[in-house]
Amino acid sequence: MVERTEVVFVDGVRTPFGRAGEKGMYWNTRADDLAVKAMIGLLERNPEVPKDRIDDVAIAATTQQGDQGLTLGRTTAMLAGLPKSVPGYAIDRMCAGAMTSVTTTAGAIAFGAYELAIAGGVEHMGRHPMGFNADPNPRFLAEKLVSPDALNMGMTAERIHDRFPHLTKERADRYAMRSQHKLAAAYEADKIQPDLIPVAIRSDEGWGLATRDEAPRPETTMEGLAGLKTPFRPHGRVTAGNSSGLNDGATVSLMASAAAAKEFGLKPKMRMVSFAFAGVEPEIMGIGPVPSTEKALRKAGLSIDDIGLFELNEAFAVQVLSFLDHFGIDDDDPRVNPWGGAIAIGHPLASSGVRLMIQLARQFEEHPEVRYGVTAMCVGLGQGGTVIWENPNFKGGK
Ligand SMILES: CC(C)(COP(=O)(O)OP(=O)(O)OC[C@H]1O[C@@H](n2cnc3c(N)ncnc32)[C@H](O)[C@@H]1OP(=O)(O)O)[C@@H](O)C(=O)NCCC(=O)NCCS
Repeated sequence: MVERTEVVFVDGVRTPFGRAGEKGMYWNTRADDLAVKAMIGLLERNPEVPKDRIDDVAIAATTQQGDQGLTLGRTTAMLAGLPKSVPGYAIDRMCAGAMTSVTTTAGAIAFGAYELAIAGGVEHMGRHPMGFNADPNPRFLAEKLVSPDALNMGMTAERIHDRFPHLTKERADRYAMRSQHKLAAAYEADKIQPDLIPVAIRSDEGWGLATRDEAPRPETTMEGLAGLKTPFRPHGRVTAGNSSGLNDGATVSLMASAAAAKEFGLKPKMRMVSFAFAGVEPEIMGIGPVPSTEKALRKAGLSIDDIGLFELNEAFAVQVLSFLDHFGIDDDDPRVNPWGGAIAIGHPLASSGVRLMIQLARQFEEHPEVRYGVTAMCVGLGQGGTVIWENPNFKGGK
């Protein structure tokens, strides 16, 4: 392996995730303010961090316009009170935006260019609906580079059902219901709350405080899911119940070289082992995490059996099932999303990658017998992203 500087994930926080739209809790909150809030929260709980030593701030968003444009890393850094000497930039890899903020700053740390960086993402899907104002090059369809299905994420999930008929709607619904129930149990046990930064919100009733995710439906049942419409295709299998929803939220993390973490007295929560992105046919974008995980495992010299915990983004239940099926992992394997996933929590596109890392980092603390964990997600237009992490609390065992 190439000689490189060790990269660690020191800490990560997020805003509670809201439901997008006029009735959602963040309807009157700016997108950039969500990222600013999260960043202030991260800095407040890591007071040892010398702010003037932060080398860069990378913040992702998919729709980079209006209050979600203007080079978010720079604007949010200034608004969060970082010295003006700290630079910043914006990132876009759609759903893997925050994950790419992490891997890009990690690359700079590994190269020795940076010591400390803030990496995260935001998506306010209420103010910036998916695909709004997008202008895909007409060649995509005219030259049949992709079918129209490739541009509609729900249709790509239907296509995975088509391709793998044994991944039935019943299995997808059961997976989705379990995600809801696991999240409810995690909230009950106070696992989620410690990493949430409350956000002041304004509604017709006046000021309030967002302290919990807004989208979860803990009362979900198989009967309830069975009766839902299939919005993407008549008699389809993908429903609002077995998909992630439309959400608003922001995440941020503090990345560092192991040496800088030591110098500033910061206790790393995870050590980065490897990462990889991969492309797949855009029509079945949801299988993207399969090749990206294979690639990341190969680069790390590990096999899937070495992985003790998985945080997989649940864009759609069927798409997670295709990953589990490929690697021979049971639908209800306890190593997978133990505290639920995006189907329950929500998926504000470019922010979700760091949400996976926040949860994996907490689980590492609880599982010193686990050495390696994976965060992985699918990405629109046919991509997957995977980061493999090592548990600094590892005490031996499997
Ligand atoms: C699937 C999707 C179109 C649904 O949007 P929506 O219709 O606004 O969703 P809603 O939350 O209003 O749910 C629709 C209905 O299902 C019901 N429902 C949703 N989840 C449910 C659950 N777990 N149990 C029971 N009912 C549920 C709602 O109550 C609602 O019922 P109603 O019509 O009687 O009010 C939308 O969430 C979507 O596009 N998701 C995918 C997002 C995406 O592509 N992300 C990128 C991934 S790569």
